[in-house]
Amino acid sequence: MILNSSFLSVALALALQGANALSVSVVHPSATPDGSGQGNNNSTCSNPSIRREWRTLSRDEKKNFIDGVRCLSQLPASPDLQPTGDNPDNQPRNTSSTLYDDFVYIHMDGLQSLHVTGRFFPWHRLFLHAFESHLKNQCGFTGALPYWDFTQDSANILASTAFDADPEAGLGAWPDASTNFTVTTGGFRDLPYLDPGVSFPFEYSDPELEANSTQTPENWQNIVGGSRGNFTAFQLSVDGHRLQGMHPSTHVSAGGPEGDVTNLATSPSDPIFWLLHAQLDRLWWQWQTYHPDNFEAISGGETQDLVHVDDFPTGTGTPVTANTTLFMSNLFEDKKIGDVFDIMGGYLCYDYVQPNATQV
Ligand SMILES: *[C@@H]1O[C@H](CO)[C@@H](O)[C@H](O)[C@H]1NC(C)=O
Ligand SMILES: *[C@@H]1O[C@H](CO)[C@@H](O)[C@H](O)[C@H]1NC(C)=O
Ligand SMILES: *[C@@H]1O[C@H](CO)[C@@H](O)[C@H](O)[C@H]1NC(C)=O
Ligand SMILES: *[C@@H]1O[C@H](CO)[C@@H](O)[C@H](O)[C@H]1NC(C)=O
Ligand SMILES: *[C@@H]1O[C@H](CO)[C@@H](O)[C@H](O)[C@H]1NC(C)=O
Ligand SMILES: *[C@@H]1O[C@H](CO)[C@@H](O)[C@H](O)[C@H]1NC(C)=O
Ligand SMILES: *[C@@H]1O[C@H](CO)[C@@H](O)[C@H](O)[C@H]1NC(C)=O
Ligand SMILES: *[C@@H]1O[C@H](CO)[C@@H](O)[C@H](O)[C@H]1NC(C)=O
Repeated sequence: MILNSSFLSVALALALQGANALSVSVVHPSATPDGSGQGNNNSTCSNPSIRREWRTLSRDEKKNFIDGVRCLSQLPASPDLQPTGDNPDNQPRNTSSTLYDDFVYIHMDGLQSLHVTGRFFPWHRLFLHAFESHLKNQCGFTGALPYWDFTQDSANILASTAFDADPEAGLGAWPDASTNFTVTTGGFRDLPYLDPGVSFPFEYSDPELEANSTQTPENWQNIVGGSRGNFTAFQLSVDGHRLQGMHPSTHVSAGGPEGDVTNLATSPSDPIFWLLHAQLDRLWWQWQTYHPDNFEAISGGETQDLVHVDDFPTGTGTPVTANTTLFMSNLFEDKKIGDVFDIMGGYLCYDYVQPNATQV
């Protein structure tokens, strides 16, 4: 969907009934932090914050999240942000914009080094943590980042119960042609809007493939249980050949041809981005904990190669390792890939719960 005069839209939808509740053997090589937001290096993660599926949150919890996002979109841009300059095509920064826009901007700033490279999963894990920390520290958010289990909605995204019109606690109902597919309901109906950029469409190997066929519980389970010890194979299974996999397809399903979250560079301008990527972070975590060989598996390079994307699904060039830096453009602290392998150890301190079938 499109957020018209506004910035964030949310539109989309889907869900699956606990069908992906795999039982996984959890391996935590180290202990961790206290959930206070920034991570604390080496204390014990005795009280992780628990990320839950959107539909299992109470109305008050949903409203608290939406209020937090709205708050970030009203605070001034950070004077600290320093673009890395990695993206030569990036537009100049508008320092009259908002703190929320800063998160969109650093995603644009690192566009080529953060997608279809070895940094994709770890960088987005840190990015979500940075966003969640800002929500908590600056905007009174008291929960944990929610996720959108789109596998619950693969059969019929338009029937998803994740998207409703509640003006204070809803992500927004699916819009239609009467508003030119612009989100006009829910808590994000009037957020400011950022400029568009490059969209996902790609030269697909199978133009007839239905996007939702990649979003099924069965595919999720195959991804989690596959690619043992091979991070590149895992990422390929999520992004898909010619980028037709679960990750890109869900952006496109949610955003449509012109929607904000379909935009490769500015997709965080639609707040569904955070819920969609929390789900993908959860996918990585389930894969990591499926087998010890997966836990610290990392491979690929720092440079994107979209021309040969099937040959280099995690990029090429300088190899990524646990020592590779994840840049946050001075909006948040940089960390190394090895710092974010464990979501309950060393630096991060959160966990995911499976949706409770009786709650969804
Ligand atoms: C964690 O350690 C890093 C250096 O490894 C340091 O820069 C950072 O301030 C530490 N964080 C806390 C919360 O102590
Ligand atoms: C935490 O850091 C302190 C100081 O560097 C160190 O002595 C201690 O062994 C560390 N604890 C763990 C669990 O790593
Ligand atoms: C910068 O952002 C402000 C606030 O959103 C907006 O009013 C202004 O038009 C923007 N400037 C440019 C050049 O886009
Ligand atoms: C994809 O969505 C269409 C339309 O709702 C539906 O007919 C089809 O069964 C879905 N495919 C899968 C694999 O669920
Ligand atoms: C609907 O939105 C699209 C994409 O922004 C735009 O190209 C088109 O002109 C709009 N149509 C109308 C009737 O506003
Ligand atoms: C890992 O998977 C990739 C992509 O499928 C494949 O090209 C590569 O050969 C695999 N590596 C190993 C060591 O099996
Ligand atoms: C990790 O990177 C730092 C610079 O960021 C470098 O000094 C150090 O030697 C590297 N360690 C390894 C094991 O590559
Ligand atoms: C699942 O839902 C049931 C019924 O509401 C509840 O009793 C149970 O505690 C829930 N389990 C979890 C793990 O939330």
